[in-house]
Amino acid sequence: MNIGFTYDLRRDYTAMGFSDEETAEFDSDVTIDAIEAALQGLGHEVSRIGNIYELTRRLAAGDRWDMAFNICEGLYGTARESQVPALLDAYRIPYTFSGPLTLAVSLDKAIAKKLVMQAGVPTPEFSVIHSLDDIGHQKFQGENIFPLFVKPLTEGTGKGISADSIVWDPDAFRKQCTDLLARFGQPVLVEKYLPGREFTAGIIGTGKNAECIGVLEITLNKEAEPEVYSYLNKEFYEERVVYSLVEDKKIISEAADIALRAYRALGCRDAGRADLKADAQGKLSFLEINPLAGLHPVRSDLSILCGKIGVPYTQLISRIVDSASQRVGETSDQAHAKTAM
Ligand SMILES: Nc1ncnc2c1ncn2[C@@H]1O[C@H](COP(=O)(O)OP(=O)(O)O)[C@@H](O)[C@H]1O
Ligand SMILES: [Mg+2]
Repeated sequence: MNIGFTYDLRRDYTAMGFSDEETAEFDSDVTIDAIEAALQGLGHEVSRIGNIYELTRRLAAGDRWDMAFNICEGLYGTARESQVPALLDAYRIPYTFSGPLTLAVSLDKAIAKKLVMQAGVPTPEFSVIHSLDDIGHQKFQGENIFPLFVKPLTEGTGKGISADSIVWDPDAFRKQCTDLLARFGQPVLVEKYLPGREFTAGIIGTGKNAECIGVLEITLNKEAEPEVYSYLNKEFYEERVVYSLVEDKKIISEAADIALRAYRALGCRDAGRADLKADAQGKLSFLEINPLAGLHPVRSDLSILCGKIGVPYTQLISRIVDSASQRVGETSDQAHAKTAM
């Protein structure tokens, strides 16, 4: 196939003046080169496109591709991850990964939680704080509501998440909400704090063919910020984080069940990751889904998982392309009908 490759290269945006934090979710040359090499190794012709600005130029110039390999995360707006897929839909170009609806509802962690809850998936109780006024609401009064976990509503890559995200009293709660509202200019998600073990489940495929390929346990060592898989722990994962493949069949089955039900409820396609955490009794809950899971060949959780189960990187990319290929020739509605459960 002639594959158009859409991505947000971090250095393109830092050159435009955006900060490290603003561009934290974007990709490095290593990731772009690795995906391109894998696609070429599979016999495809790859045309590098880049971000949405380049894509609009190329589409307007009349360029077309058999398929797009899309990993754009977007920069602005609550539908930022949906913008490229929506544009590709408009031009009837099939693409890898989820469609615009799934990407928008998954980006908003509260909406994603509502949808998975409706599908019977366990996820911690939560509220959304839109402004400082909400902090004073009656439901946040009293000592027995703590500990809570406080995070930005629509970020990823651990942005806005640190040891301070766990709050134990009203003062810390007010401070953390105030800081996040000011720093990220978006609502804050307040959840019940889950103190148990942390896992991430990798999924490949679409709809009925989606399969959980394995579950990684994330443990933090002494050098790490305690208790949270935070921005800094992710950044310095070599010294701070231990990833181990879960062998316990009971945990694998509980994690896979939650991850797949969430993945299908949200209509995710081709590949993704669900983040899970246990409560004090060891019962797992859904935290969030990553329908555009990082694909750095070495650093990303999905690649680490594939390494541990013996799936080479090229095979991961091949399985993503195979899953997306099944939509070639289908309308967007037909593809959607097969995805959403
Ligand atoms: N309710 C919670 N209880 C305990 N820890 C949490 C909770 N929510 C998030 N975390 C911690 O914060 C990390 C990042 O949260 P997550 O929602 O996955 O955001 P991101 O999109 O940045 O990965 C999780 O991996 C976990 O360590
Ligand atoms: Mg996460």
